[in-house]
Amino acid sequence: MKSKFMLFFAICAYSISIIAQVPDNDNFMVTHGPYLQNLDGKGVTIIWTTNKPAIPGVKMTGPDGKTWFVRNSRDGIVDGGGMLHKVRIEGLEPGTAYKYSINSVQILKYQAYKVYYGDTLARKAESFSTFPLRKEQTSFVVVNDVHDNSAKLASYLKNATLGEKDLVFFNGDMVDYLQATEQLFPGFVDTAVYYFATQKPFYYVRGNHETRGFVARDLKNYFDYRNDRFYYSFDNGPVHFIVLDCGEDKPDNNRYYYGLADYDSYRREELSWLREEVKSESFRKARYRIVIIHMPVLKEEKQGYGMKFLSDNFGPVLQSAGINLAINAHTHRNTFYDASKSGFGFPVLVNSNNSFVEVFADQQDINIAVKDIGGKIINEYNIK
Ligand SMILES: [Fe+2]
Repeated sequence: MKSKFMLFFAICAYSISIIAQVPDNDNFMVTHGPYLQNLDGKGVTIIWTTNKPAIPGVKMTGPDGKTWFVRNSRDGIVDGGGMLHKVRIEGLEPGTAYKYSINSVQILKYQAYKVYYGDTLARKAESFSTFPLRKEQTSFVVVNDVHDNSAKLASYLKNATLGEKDLVFFNGDMVDYLQATEQLFPGFVDTAVYYFATQKPFYYVRGNHETRGFVARDLKNYFDYRNDRFYYSFDNGPVHFIVLDCGEDKPDNNRYYYGLADYDSYRREELSWLREEVKSESFRKARYRIVIIHMPVLKEEKQGYGMKFLSDNFGPVLQSAGINLAINAHTHRNTFYDASKSGFGFPVLVNSNNSFVEVFADQQDINIAVKDIGGKIINEYNIK
């Protein structure tokens, strides 16, 4: 009997030793990113994710080769402990090229009096340039209504000569809805990272579809918006950009919103901001003022609720402010309204769900090309 017990314990011990030797295949790794957000003349936000909790940091290298390391902290506590990482770099010089390398220190245990660190991942250096104080020209790409079709986005980006562009706008409805944060990455962020977003920023304009689903509330966590708002303005070269948030397309009491929509009051707040924005010095002194908003602001006979709200309330403010161009999406049709046809005295370009827009603006004029998925020019416009 005794020998049987000995055999049993020997087998158990051997099994345990085998289990202990099974390697952990789920290695600590960066799962998405890095991607640049909210770039301006003085700073940038760098975002990425890891598959395990970590403390994020960024190693910066200046043009003179000098290096420094950045971790953010809030209220005295260093950021970290989660798997989504967002590091803001401030104090940069305008118009300067920097290198950066993201750094993630794995946390094995995080208790009140005991923190165990694991591996450190230091990724290869990427580069970006801050916006210059003055620049004679700017160029950008606008993509919209991709609706989770990352293959279509890849085709746009492959054909968009991104090396010559300063920035990219994703003008809404990049996803159908947001029911899980994982949708954002295969939906469009991973493709943006592959083609450009490690080196150039994208500006993710909220469309009506981004407001749908449980995770719509968390959208700001995964990006970085100027002043933490979906509507804001910034300057690049001769252009003052005004990015607006259209809200939902149906009335707040529509049955499909189940009482969870409050866009009328939100748009009124945004309108109050816009009224002040158009009085600002940077708006008034800009060579051009370009509005980027997902739903068109137009005077038309038949309009859905959201577009009519924008037309009735935002249209007159934009008209009296003097806008040079509005770039829109949402209708899935390519349409151009010249200044005399939009109803508000400025030209309106609506880009479809099967094309992308390239814009080049210098001191003389604004040149626009609308291109199909293969990069063939569909239409060209010139605005003096
Ligand atoms: Fe839309």
